[in-house]
Amino acid sequence: MPSVYDSTVAPAIVKVERLSVTYRATYETKPTLKGALLRMGRGQRAVREIEALRDVSFEVGRGGVTGVIGVNGAGKSTLMRCVAGILPPSHGRIEVHGRVSTLLALGVGFNRQLSGRENVVLGGLAAGLRRDQLAAKYEEIAEFAELGDFMDLPMRTYSSGMYGRLAFSVAINMDPDILLVDEALSVGDARFKRKSFDKMGELCAKAGTILLVSHALRSIRELCDQVIWMDKGKLVMHGDTDEVVDAYERYMEVGESEVALEDV
Ligand SMILES: Nc1ncnc2c1ncn2[C@@H]1O[C@H](COP(=O)(O)OP(=O)(O)OP(=O)(O)O)[C@@H](O)[C@H]1O
Ligand SMILES: [Mg+2]
Repeated sequence: MPSVYDSTVAPAIVKVERLSVTYRATYETKPTLKGALLRMGRGQRAVREIEALRDVSFEVGRGGVTGVIGVNGAGKSTLMRCVAGILPPSHGRIEVHGRVSTLLALGVGFNRQLSGRENVVLGGLAAGLRRDQLAAKYEEIAEFAELGDFMDLPMRTYSSGMYGRLAFSVAINMDPDILLVDEALSVGDARFKRKSFDKMGELCAKAGTILLVSHALRSIRELCDQVIWMDKGKLVMHGDTDEVVDAYERYMEVGESEVALEDV
């Protein structure tokens, strides 16, 4: 089976076409006396545009884990937010066929004033589960997270790892067609990480599709069937895991890409 998705074999489950995202950040510039007088004391606002994604296209077929790698600021989280439907594209389009569950390092999260139990119940109701379904789901989620009686304490009392455990447990137990994981596993301890990897394997065995952002290249090599390498908002390479990770590691060492885009 080819590791890179071939649309002639089966329809894509995630299809990203010429996607670009430009963030507009406004900020106060340092006022000069003359400028401040002219604007009668109001600070000057400047706009900086940040091109986080530039003309990105790829397709992912059903089942399997696709890794997303790249240096800080490369655009990985932005890409995840777009696929999750949290962030609208500036240009281009995204097709997602199926139910998405997200586990993002930043962004959507729990209410820290509420207990783990309350967060799971509210999240389940918001996701449209019936009360009876929710009761069963709750048990699965709590059992997997292994937080014991911390489930009844406000989440502000959780360590980052405990928070991450519950987040992962909720996301994966929602039986999504597509699971988006953005660096959320890095907070788990070794045993929980192992358990999470196994659980992701189970999801893939049920034809689930996972997009996994991580800087942990060893985990990427272990888990992924294919990898997307992002740099400065562009897709540099999309292909077989070892090929892409090898090229990325070489790039990180030598500071420049030995792989031309045409080689992909
Ligand atoms: N909310 C935002 N407003 C403005 N610019 C943003 C915002 N979020 C991200 N950016 C910018 O977009 C670019 C891509 O950021 P992104 O968070 O997607 O990178 P990343 O690949 O996930 O990096 P990391 O490995 O550090 O998580 C960066 O230049 C960043 O400064
Ligand atoms: Mg990120």
